[in-house]
Parts: sequence; structure tokens; C-alpha cells
Amino acid sequence: MGVKTLPRKIYVTRKLPEDIESRLAEHFDVRSWDEEDKPVPRETLLEEIKDVDGLFCMITEKIDEEILQAGKHLKVVANMAVGYNNIDVETATANGITVTNTPDVLTETTADLAFALLMASARRLTETSDTLRKGEWGAWSPMQFTGQDIFGATLGIIGLGRIGEAVVKRAKGFEMDVLYHSRTRKKDKESELDIGYAELDQLLTKADFALLLLPYSSESHHLIGKRELALMKENAILINASRGGIVDEDALYHALNNGEIWGAGLDVYEQEPVPTDHPLLTLSNVTAVPHIGSASVKTRRAMADLAADNLIEGLNGKKAVTPVNL
Ligand code: DGY
Repeated sequence: MGVKTLPRKIYVTRKLPEDIESRLAEHFDVRSWDEEDKPVPRETLLEEIKDVDGLFCMITEKIDEEILQAGKHLKVVANMAVGYNNIDVETATANGITVTNTPDVLTETTADLAFALLMASARRLTETSDTLRKGEWGAWSPMQFTGQDIFGATLGIIGLGRIGEAVVKRAKGFEMDVLYHSRTRKKDKESELDIGYAELDQLLTKADFALLLLPYSSESHHLIGKRELALMKENAILINASRGGIVDEDALYHALNNGEIWGAGLDVYEQEPVPTDHPLLTLSNVTAVPHIGSASVKTRRAMADLAADNLIEGLNGKKAVTPVNL
């Protein structure tokens, strides 16, 4: 008679769709934080992590050295996001813990949102919709509610990964000239996608739209600050669909408030949820949405499924599906 092994234990930091919870329960002894909209308190996570083999977490959890050290049995940390700057990957690697993310499944959805934010900012969609709802439309007049053209404009993409490439395809439908900047130049992509490489300063000087799509790290922290904003055209729009910390928000507020740049479209903030009294939210030339880049029903389900697959494979002696380290 074979020795019966106990099911592996996992902790899930948020309420998931029921069928995905059931799938996890077929493989694991699952405990979870059952709230949909509230992240698990850190003290609870520090307690829950102690005896589990796997963690299913979100970008709202800071998985730092303290949490990783407390997880004495931890083998896999599955982040339900493509970005994983919330996790101390170096410490995880040193402790033999596999970290996984959810690439590919969210590429097109996030590219849709980045482009939607670009269009909404250029044509002032949220601002003018609010004006209409408040009964402040007034009579039609020649320059009322005028925005910036998208068709034929120059788009500068900073960070040409999978999402950046997907945005290029959308931009080409609008006959945009596309420049890109990334740490490593991708010559093969330049002819394939009909785009040009530019140094960051050159891109900022030329772009009508500067779109941030690069990962957040100590290197990209405040990559866009006062100096960089000053390089942009007066009619330019900055779009951030990656991580808030890439932009110095104080500098952005001043550039927008002083008319140094024309507008900004933001999906991400240095602090999330962004406080409602944040200075940027007082500006009518800011189009602000709450970190919804990957938020389509289909994509969020696919991300949860992929994070589940990573735990199932990774904790059953196989290689995780989308590891970022081991
Ligand atoms: C990601 O996947 O990194 C997004 O920011 C969250 O959807």
C-alpha cells in the first residue's frame, strides 16, 4: 500500500470566481481571504503564510523578505498580474521559492485600455462627459471642448514589450508614426512593426503622445520627472498604463497645471487607491481611471486560471507555467 500524502496547503489572498476556487480545492487544502474588494491585512497574511506551500496573491500584497521568511514551507508564489514589483524576487530566489506572473493572457486587453486612455485623454471624454452631466454644456461654439488629433500623430512608446507591440498595431490603424524607447534596442521589430528607435529625451521631444509601458523597478522609479516633462511639447499627452512610481506625480501636477504639457491619462498611481484629494485629480486635463488595464471579464478570469495553473504545476513537482525566476 502506497503512503498517502497530505494535500499541499495554499493561501489565496482574495475572493476568486467560484469555479477557479473549486479547481484549486481539487488540488489543495485551500484557505483564503474571502473579501472581494479589501486586501488581506498584513498581520493576517503573516500568520496565514506560516504553514502553506503556495501563495496565490495580487499586486495589492507586498511580498517582502518578512513575508517570505515567515513562509517556512513556501515553494511557489503565484502573482495574479504580469507585473511583479510587489514581490522581492531576489529573496524568493535565494530561498528556493518560485515566483510566477501572468503574461500574455492580458496583453491585448491592456493594450486596448492603453489606447482607450490615449483616445479619451486626447478627446477629453471623461471631462466633457462630466460637464454634460452637470448641466454645464452650454451652446455649441467653435472651439468648445476641442482636443488633440490622434490620426497621424506621433506616438512614443517607452517600454516595447508584448503590450507595447500590441499598442503599435492599434496605432498603425490610426496611421500614427511610432517611436519607441527601450533598454535594449529591438532592430528586428523596427522593420516588422514599422517603428523607429529613439533615445528617451529625443522621444519625449518628438511625441504627441508618450506612453509608459515599462516595468517598475528601482531603475525606472521617477523616470519621468520635471526635466523629462519639460522636454515634452506643449500639446503633448502623457499616458501611464504601467506603474505609478515611474512618474514623479508632483512634477506631473506642476507640468499639467502650468500648461507645460497638455494632458495626462492615468491608469496607475504611486499610491493605490489614489486618495480622492490627490492634486492630480483636481485637474480637468487629467483622465484618471482606477488601474483597470487588464480588467475585462475574460482576461481577469484567464489571469486567475493561469495563476492557479502555476500553483498546480509548481507544487506538483513540475516546472511552473510562467515562472519569473527559478
Ligand atoms: C498587471 O498585470 O501587472 C496589472 O497591472 C494588473 O492587472
